[in-house]
Amino acid sequence: MLLKSRLGVLFAFLLPHSDTSVSVTSYLIGVGIGDVTGPIVETNMMGYADMNQTNTGLHMRQHSRAYIVADPSNPSNRIVFINSDIGMGDTGVRTQIVSQLAALYPDVYDNSNIALVGTHQHSGVAGYHNYLLPQLTSLGLVRQSYEAIVNGSVHAVVQAHNSLSLGSLSLGNTTLLGTNINRSPYAYLANPAAERALYQYDQDKDFTLLKFTDGSGVDRGFLSFFPVHGTSIYQNNTLVSTDNKGMAAYLYESFVNPTVFPGATNSFVAGFAQSNVGDTSYVTVLGAYCESPGDPWDGQPCEFAKSTCGNVTQGCRGRLGPGFRISDFESNRIIGTNQFNAAKILMESSLGPVTGAVKALHTYVEISNYTFQLPNGTTVHTCPAAMGFSFAGGTTDGPGFSDFTQGENSTSVTNPFWNLVKGAVTPSPTPYQVACQYPKPILLNTGFAHTPYEWTPGIVDIQMFQIGQLVMLIVPSEYTTMAGRRLRNAVRAKLISSGVLDNSAYVVIAGPSNVYSHYVTTREEYSVQRYEGASTLYGPYTLEAYTDIYTNLVEYLIPDSAISLSPGPTPPNQISKSISLQKGVFYDSAPHGGFGSVITDVSSKPYTAGGTVSALFNGANPRNNLRLEGTYLTVDRRVNDIWTPVRSDSHPSTTLRWNRTHTILGTSTVNISWTIESGTPAGSYRLTYYGDSKSLFGTISSFTGHSGTFMVSV
Ligand SMILES: *[C@@H]1O[C@H](CO)[C@@H](O)[C@H](O)[C@H]1NC(C)=O
Ligand SMILES: *[C@@H]1O[C@H](CO)[C@@H](O)[C@H](O)[C@H]1NC(C)=O
Ligand SMILES: *[C@@H]1O[C@H](CO)[C@@H](O)[C@H](O)[C@H]1NC(C)=O
Ligand SMILES: *[C@@H]1O[C@H](CO)[C@@H](O)[C@H](O)[C@H]1NC(C)=O
Ligand SMILES: *[C@@H]1O[C@H](CO)[C@@H](O)[C@H](O)[C@H]1NC(C)=O
Ligand SMILES: *[C@@H]1O[C@H](CO)[C@@H](O)[C@H](O)[C@H]1NC(C)=O
Ligand SMILES: *[C@@H]1O[C@H](CO)[C@@H](O)[C@H](O)[C@H]1NC(C)=O
Ligand SMILES: *[C@@H]1O[C@H](CO)[C@@H](O)[C@H](O)[C@H]1NC(C)=O
Ligand SMILES: *[C@@H]1O[C@H](CO)[C@@H](O)[C@H](O)[C@H]1NC(C)=O
Ligand SMILES: *[C@@H]1O[C@H](CO)[C@@H](O)[C@H](O)[C@H]1NC(C)=O
Repeated sequence: MLLKSRLGVLFAFLLPHSDTSVSVTSYLIGVGIGDVTGPIVETNMMGYADMNQTNTGLHMRQHSRAYIVADPSNPSNRIVFINSDIGMGDTGVRTQIVSQLAALYPDVYDNSNIALVGTHQHSGVAGYHNYLLPQLTSLGLVRQSYEAIVNGSVHAVVQAHNSLSLGSLSLGNTTLLGTNINRSPYAYLANPAAERALYQYDQDKDFTLLKFTDGSGVDRGFLSFFPVHGTSIYQNNTLVSTDNKGMAAYLYESFVNPTVFPGATNSFVAGFAQSNVGDTSYVTVLGAYCESPGDPWDGQPCEFAKSTCGNVTQGCRGRLGPGFRISDFESNRIIGTNQFNAAKILMESSLGPVTGAVKALHTYVEISNYTFQLPNGTTVHTCPAAMGFSFAGGTTDGPGFSDFTQGENSTSVTNPFWNLVKGAVTPSPTPYQVACQYPKPILLNTGFAHTPYEWTPGIVDIQMFQIGQLVMLIVPSEYTTMAGRRLRNAVRAKLISSGVLDNSAYVVIAGPSNVYSHYVTTREEYSVQRYEGASTLYGPYTLEAYTDIYTNLVEYLIPDSAISLSPGPTPPNQISKSISLQKGVFYDSAPHGGFGSVITDVSSKPYTAGGTVSALFNGANPRNNLRLEGTYLTVDRRVNDIWTPVRSDSHPSTTLRWNRTHTILGTSTVNISWTIESGTPAGSYRLTYYGDSKSLFGTISSFTGHSGTFMVSV
């Protein structure tokens, strides 16, 4: 039986080889892109867990980029990789994406072959999460935010599906320096010296790229993997944007299609996916320094082990990357450009072909008490989730959750959601939990907090995609550098020892994906209990547990394996029962002149490249209409007396800033600005504002406003 089926597989594999029209290097490939930008005002932003970071406008739209790969000889063997400009994947969002795609394409897309991977950016819209802890700062669920991600991601996959055609894939990597840095070197140094000596750097510097080329040799896009935190744009920014991964994608897509608006075409889709991002930061020029005006340690380097200034974490900040003396947006552009350049090197090189099977594996695992054997034979288990004290301290990328956690008496805590739910975090963890999580001092015992609903996941998504020799570990957490290396190495060794792949096996990590389960450190890093260790939810053996689970999945990739993977326990979908404290838009009104009329116009003096032109309009609340796949503004150029839009709200050179000028009257303003790029043709231009107002009766009407004409000279 076994021999027969082995031969069967061998034949199936060899047959296409002798067929001239199809070779084993051929795959069905498709790419797509969709707008996932939620409400750009009056909504908390995702990443820094700062309830003060409420958005006030738009810098760049957030997109989901979808990649489909299928085996042409058996198209049910396929994978869908959605790389989304969001903080992290999420159970509620993913469940809805899966159910919509499964309804649109029965028996084609299902729970196992769709991955929702976040770029881990920190300047997007919050409020889309299934679990309570990441909902705290957004005052619960923001349905518009959740729906925007679902709708835009489904749109991207539909586009990718409709573009499926025979093509080829190739794979390579290059070294990318000067872009990421370790923000927890003290914890990294807790790893054994012999292990550290195997690596030149305390961060992974390999930038990996999977190239998608169609049957006529035209590149359709790529999916790349490189770990660097999406914190280039600072915590005090309130314009919705994409951080460095989205910037890199914009730079690449506009390099290929310079005249097309961002996100408007899937003729080339550039994917910059996040990897073992846990302890990475974007490159800082000088490291972490104290910003503590008035204190003697102001301007001094932070204390090494704890990243403190005067014994508290609050002042310690990473300097703002290479452009920090200019602005965080400049720093973001530089970190984005570095990744763009790495991708360009690989896209312009001839890379090794990807050959072999396509396979998707997914299972849910109850991770709060996963019992397994360590390689030395000792049986251990994981623990119900808990956050350690250092979680409240945050990182040098931004201070943490201290507003909520440093004593319930603190007067700075005015979050009504926290006041509603804080009692559910049991103040004294059981002796079992204390021992299980040791040496983590427990701050938030979230694994035992079930009211009003689950705070953190107890069931996580475990997913693995194989495309020939490339194996993607789709992980639900932020792995630190060394944790990621250990996981990759263990899976790669298992792929080879079990005969699934030969030495060409190439393993990458993509995350945080599908559900957010915070961090994963090595056990040695965990013992140090910095922010990343304190945020490793399931105890000291979290990494060993995941390594056991992922290496066990490898046997399901053995071609003649008759075993099928159990779907595992279903996680709770809490979207419909989620608390939502964000208020809706009451109504809008505009003074004389009406909506869209100009308050402060552009200058009559000509502008030149590098200058910024802006106009202030009587506005309305952008939450009335997200204008997905559309735009709130255009820069128009007059050619032969016809106005042609040349920029949209998703170009990084344009911004929209909304301001509520009177709460009771419902008036507001919109400031549209454009920083003129070098190379912009001379001529006549204007700014156009597209808005939507809500009447007292709830009707929403769209309107348009134009600035005066202005001249750009060279
Ligand atoms: C939020 O703003 C309030 C009032 O301005 C301030 O007291 C508090 O420290 C801020 N919190 C954070 C996390 O920055
Ligand atoms: C998402 O799509 C659904 C179904 O088409 C629609 O009802 C809903 O309004 C959309 N949501 C947003 C935020 O656009
Ligand atoms: C990058 O490519 C080199 C050469 O093929 C290989 O040795 C190395 O393992 C690759 N990096 C990763 C992260 O797989
Ligand atoms: C944010 O903070 C940085 C550093 O403290 C400062 O240089 C920058 O101007 C601030 N940006 C905004 C929008 O307030
Ligand atoms: C910080 O703590 C150390 C050790 O407890 C102490 O010697 C030092 O004075 C403290 N520094 C400040 C600024 O409080
Ligand atoms: C954890 O699982 C083990 C083995 O399945 C079981 O013996 C033990 O009682 C469980 N512990 C808890 C706290 O549920
Ligand atoms: C196996 O490793 C664990 C973790 O390092 C250790 O606690 C345990 O004592 C070891 N067991 C044996 C039998 O060496
Ligand atoms: C909060 O106030 C209560 C009552 O005054 C006190 O017992 C408790 O220690 C205070 N907690 C903190 C963290 O200050
Ligand atoms: C917003 O409008 C208010 C009221 O007119 C004004 O005081 C404030 O300066 C404006 N803010 C900005 C950023 O323009
Ligand atoms: C509009 O925004 C631009 C760019 O930030 C700024 O220079 C200008 O002063 C703002 N205009 C008004 C009227 O607030």
